[in-house]
Amino acid sequence: KILILDFGSQVTQLIARRVREAHVYCEIHPNDVSDDFIRSFAPKGIILSGSHASTYEDHQLRAPQAVWDLGVPVLGICYGMQTMAVQLGGEVSWSDTREFGYAEVRAHGHTRLLEGVQDFATAEGHGMLKVWMSHGDKVTTLPQGFKLMASTPSCPIAGMANEDKGYYAVQFHPEVTHTVQGAAMLTRFVRDIAGCAGDWIMGNYIEEAIAKIREQVGDEEVILGLSGGVDSSVAAALIHRAIGDQLTCVFVDHGLLRLNEGDMVMDMFAGKLHAKVIRVDASELFLGQLAGVTDPEKKRKIIGGLFVDVFKAEAGKLKAAGNGVKGATFLAQGTIYPDVVESGGTKTKKATTIKSHHNVGGLPEQLGLKLLEPLRELFKDEVRELGVALGLPPEMVYRHPFPGPGLGVRILGEVKKDYADLLRRADAIFIDELRSTIEPNSGKSWYDLTSQAFTVFLPVKSVGVMGDGRTYDYVVALRAVQTSDFMTADWAELPYSLLKKVSSRIINEVRGINRVTYDVSSKPPATIEWE
Ligand code: XMP
Repeated sequence: KILILDFGSQVTQLIARRVREAHVYCEIHPNDVSDDFIRSFAPKGIILSGSHASTYEDHQLRAPQAVWDLGVPVLGICYGMQTMAVQLGGEVSWSDTREFGYAEVRAHGHTRLLEGVQDFATAEGHGMLKVWMSHGDKVTTLPQGFKLMASTPSCPIAGMANEDKGYYAVQFHPEVTHTVQGAAMLTRFVRDIAGCAGDWIMGNYIEEAIAKIREQVGDEEVILGLSGGVDSSVAAALIHRAIGDQLTCVFVDHGLLRLNEGDMVMDMFAGKLHAKVIRVDASELFLGQLAGVTDPEKKRKIIGGLFVDVFKAEAGKLKAAGNGVKGATFLAQGTIYPDVVESGGTKTKKATTIKSHHNVGGLPEQLGLKLLEPLRELFKDEVRELGVALGLPPEMVYRHPFPGPGLGVRILGEVKKDYADLLRRADAIFIDELRSTIEPNSGKSWYDLTSQAFTVFLPVKSVGVMGDGRTYDYVVALRAVQTSDFMTADWAELPYSLLKKVSSRIINEVRGINRVTYDVSSKPPATIEWE
């Protein structure tokens, strides 16, 4: 396995991603872990990450001495290259300005890392690489035993190597996709240079994760808030596989879930997996508190706050009673790697609050429980793979995201039970048709071709005609978007025939709705959800 030491770069997680794409297991740890930690981790190779944009004040960060004493290959990236140079006796010129951008790097000599890896060759036959470069600080003198591996006109030492020791370093970022050969270089390092087998698959991860959970939990008990979403479901399935009945799941049903969703969650976890699940039907409480409230932010705060209260009350009971033995001491959460990075201290977040997201941060402290977060190292797509490997149905694991406040933000203005019931039925029809309509060129369903799709309830009435009679009923809007990061999104160009079928089914099958519209707004300026 590979150890990645993180100096605080925003793209460190991409290094992990590329390494795992090469089927090599790796973990990211802070740059200041102890020498003992590194020795007991026993990596076959170590990667030193970059650091955040303003390294100037942080250029004291160093890799622990054990990195150099272990005798394993080391790859330094950007700041990792600079600290490698300094620690091994080279020189760096530090600067408080830094440039990012595309660069063409010339490879020098024959190094194992870059041999045969190139994007094009110059007329003189030099191998050239198209890379994403960040420089400002740069290595100016090679440490003893190192040779030049790469250069650009503005960064004469853009890469260096000490092949006897297996030390390599590059000033550019091989982990970002703009560096065309980046994945090839990282694969070369972890497989050929560090000698990792490249046989790591999710199945191995399950065994390792189970062993870790058992070790961490011992004979204590764990509670987990199950929402039906992908992350908490996969966490529950994994922990249950590890410790069985020492896990109790608490599923808070706020009455704003999709059609049959609560039953499906119970069916899966209590029915098929035989996990202990407590379903708390809190819909009356939620709907009661939401009565008369129309402001979206107020609605979000009420739902988020109640959720925490209900969960806390339930967890408190379990903490006291346990599930028969001595009371829960751990709170499990489905935190995944991107959540860790987003809430990490290294980023300065200046974003204004557009919507206050539902979040249960702070709960473990309030409840006096220890945290168990078995998915902390994984990316979303890996969590999904893990879910399937654990036997969860692919339809569940590959579901579109669903917001914490649920239908509460998809019913505009005041939330009422009647509205929620109408919306649930209309939405189920939309999703059903998206799943069953195949786009012929890709062979994929429109559900899989969209990132998120749902129905929004508009509490306005419009006039229609049905049979011989006049109707005066509600309107729904269909929303389907395509996006890779949910920060920006385009509305999906669904086929007219599909829209037509959905519209006619909803109006015919859901009495109370007589008009269906399609939302053709992109984000920005609109958001994905309507509230
Ligand atoms: P917006 O509407 O801000 O949504 O464009 C971006 C993504 O975030 C989801 N979303 C939420 N997820 N709790 C969540 O867990 C929330 O309060 C929440 N609000 C929005 C939304 O569904 C979309 O995927």
